[in-house]
Parts: sequence; structure tokens; C-alpha cells
Amino acid sequence: MAERSEVVFVDGVRTPFGRAGEKGMFWQTRADDLVVKAIMGLLERNPDVPKDAIDDVAIAATTQQGDQGLTLGRTAALLSGLPQSVPGYAIDRMCAGAMTSVTTTAGAIAFGAYDLAIAGGVEHMGRHPMGFGADPNPRFLAEKLVSAEALNMGNTAERIHDRFPQLTKERSDRYAMRSQQKVAAAYEAGKIQPDLIPVATRNGDGWGLATRDEAPRPETTMEGLAGLRTPFRPHGRVTAGNSSGLNDGATASLLASESMAEQLGLSIKMRLVSFAFAGVEPEIMGIGPVPSTEKALRKAGLSIDDIGLFELNEAFAVQVLSFLDHFGIDDDDPRVNEYGGAIALGHPLASSGVRLMIQLARQFEEHPEVRYGLTAMCIGLGQGGSVIWENPNWNKKAAMSTKKAAR
Ligand SMILES: CC(C)(COP(=O)(O)OP(=O)(O)OC[C@H]1O[C@@H](n2cnc3c(N)ncnc32)[C@H](O)[C@@H]1OP(=O)(O)O)[C@@H](O)C(=O)NCCC(=O)NCCS
Repeated sequence: MAERSEVVFVDGVRTPFGRAGEKGMFWQTRADDLVVKAIMGLLERNPDVPKDAIDDVAIAATTQQGDQGLTLGRTAALLSGLPQSVPGYAIDRMCAGAMTSVTTTAGAIAFGAYDLAIAGGVEHMGRHPMGFGADPNPRFLAEKLVSAEALNMGNTAERIHDRFPQLTKERSDRYAMRSQQKVAAAYEAGKIQPDLIPVATRNGDGWGLATRDEAPRPETTMEGLAGLRTPFRPHGRVTAGNSSGLNDGATASLLASESMAEQLGLSIKMRLVSFAFAGVEPEIMGIGPVPSTEKALRKAGLSIDDIGLFELNEAFAVQVLSFLDHFGIDDDDPRVNEYGGAIALGHPLASSGVRLMIQLARQFEEHPEVRYGLTAMCIGLGQGGSVIWENPNWNKKAAMSTKKAAR
């Protein structure tokens, strides 16, 4: 019988995130090249990992066509210089693709089938616009399984505003402005850059090098946000300013059994505690992280008060606020998205789950007083995904002195 194991997050990296479209820095870069670059960067950073010992490579993409098709994990593994003996496969759970790459390979590690795995995701929303080529079954609408509106994510965010009138546009805009400010501060303090793998770019002016995210707008003001169009509904509340944008980018992470990490002398960044996915009404898909978090907490035997750091994907400000309100957390609670989030950084769908983990891992290093952290996100068609992690740097003394200082 395979030996059951603890699962650890050894390391995670990503490409800078670009703005999708002809003017974006990755317009002329292939999607598979983005994720290959991330995997190569990850392997270079972890030279003590024998390449032939990697048991699997799981790479997510939402639109699995063209340069995002052909069972990406396998093609990316070959293109990254991994030996032919290393297998790979593709994953899709829309926005939670990379998160699902992590949980699926983690399950295999926990079961004892794998010792080392690479898990990540990519989305080139410029080359693969959301929903492109999809052919939803007509039964969805004919049998009213979901309303037509639920297929457009911006509409689902408007519906959260309808459902919870206390979540005003002003609160959404303020949350969005803070996200921009936090990203700017995190860049200023050098918190984001260490986990970015630079990518060569090509445009009309020749070759370039992408070393920073392209989407942040640090100059964002409440006045600027108030004046933006509401593209999903006349006189609506959801704007380009309080939504994540359309982006290109890739992520990759290295997971291991705790015993393999010890054997190879790898330092570890996080220990997996529990994970869960849950379904909700597709029309308000953004509240998905509420039940998935409750489920993950239940599985772990923890309560929301045990979570010291939150990395929540900001698909839309209102959907993060619905989560915070549900759990009684303030809009500007310092435990939430300390380095900012997707509203500023961007959300290349299937890659974002690992971006949350990368940021949580870095915050764990800086917060030895925090024992548990959460990464969570909403998912199209009405789902949520949540993963709870333990901080290997946690020490009781730091926790006690922080508690004392707070009193
Ligand atoms: C909201 C959305 C439709 C906007 O798309 P877009 O119109 O191409 O966005 P842009 O970046 O061009 O922004 C639109 C305008 O708002 C302005 N703007 C955007 N963010 C701003 C900010 N923070 N402050 C001030 N102005 C801002 C832009 O400058 C632009 O102005 P312009 O029209 O004068 O040029 C698109 O980003 C979207 O669909 N987001 C959601 C993605 C999604 O559903 N993901 C899945 C989640 S589950």
C-alpha cells in the first residue's frame, strides 16, 4: 500500500502579468511559451530537485485550444527540458485552474502516488478571449438551469450588488483603490519582484523584457473610479476599475511530500492543511468562496478566526466584499491581500490560483506569528475554491507577543 504523506508547497513563481490585446506586452508571445518560461524559472530556482524525479506536471488553461491545447502539462514539460519520462496533463476549472492543478497533484502526493509535482496554469486572454469557441448546451437556457446572464461574469457581479444592497458601489470602488495602492506599496517594498520570471517580449519596436506586471494603475483615485462606465448594465456598479481585467500570464509551483522535501534538503514555504470546492447559484458565482471556505475550515477543524492571512482572488471587488461581510471581516482588514490583488495585478484566469499561493508564501515568511492562511477564489458557473495552508515559520512565541501587543 502506498505510504500516505503530508504535502508541502516548496516554491512558486510566475511571469509578469500583461494586459490582454494588441497593445499588451505578450500579444506576440505564445501561451505555452509563457508557462514554459515559468516552469524553467522554477526549476532553475530549485537546482536540488532531480528533474527525473518529478512525478507529474499539471497545467491548467480555461480555453484549451491552439497554443493552450494539446494536453498542456505534457507539452510544457517537454518544452521545459524535463526528461521524456516525466508525464503531464491539462486541467480546467476556469478561474481555479491552477488551484485545481495544485489540489489534484497534492491529492496524489498525500495518497503516496507522487513525491514531487509541478502544478500551475496559464491564460492568454488576448489570444483566447473568455468563452471563445464555447458551445454551451442549449438545455442550460431551455431548461432554465442557468440564466443567460450567468454566463457573463460581470453580470454575476452586478447581481451580487443587487442581492446585498449594503455592498455599495462606493465600497467596491474604495476596495479597488486600496488594492491598487497595496500593489504599488508592495512593488515599492520589493515584495512582488522576487517571484517574477522575466519574459522576452516582441512588439513593433523590437525585442523587450517583461519584468513587471503591466496592469496596475497606482494613480487610481475615487473620483476617477466614480466616473467610469458600467459596461455590464446601464447605471450599474461594476466598472473596469473595480473588476479584474483581461490579462495574459502563467504560474508554476513545486509541490512535494514532506519526506521528499526533507530528503532533498528543500526548504518549504507552506504546508497543506485542507482544501474544498463548492457550488453556488451560477447567477451570483462570486459568493462561491463562502461555502468552499466553510467546507475547508470544517475539514481542517478550524474556524475563520484561526486564519491569520487571506489571499482572496479579486475577480470583482463586490465579490470579495460579500466574502468579507459574510465572515464579519472589515473591508480594509490588514490580514486581507496585504500585497493587493487581481484588481490591480490582473487575473489571467487559469493561472491565478498559484499567484495567490506565491503571495501567501511570501507573507508567511514575514509573519511568524501567523499559523494558518487561506487562498480562495470564485469560479465561473457558480463555484468557489479554498485552500488552507500552515506556515512552517510559525512560532508560538511570536504569536503570543503579537497577541499581547494587540491587547
Ligand atoms: C470590465 C471590462 C469589461 C473592462 O474592459 P475594457 O473596457 O477593455 O477595460 P479598459 O482597461 O480599457 O478600461 C476601460 C476604461 O476604464 C479606465 N480605467 C480602468 N481602470 C481604471 C482605474 N483604476 N482608474 C481610472 N480609470 C480606469 C480605462 O482607462 C479605460 O478608459 P478609456 O475608455 O477612456 O480608455 C473587462 O476588464 C472585464 O471583462 N473584466 C472582467 C474579467 C472577468 O470576468 N474575469 C473573470 C472573473 S470570474
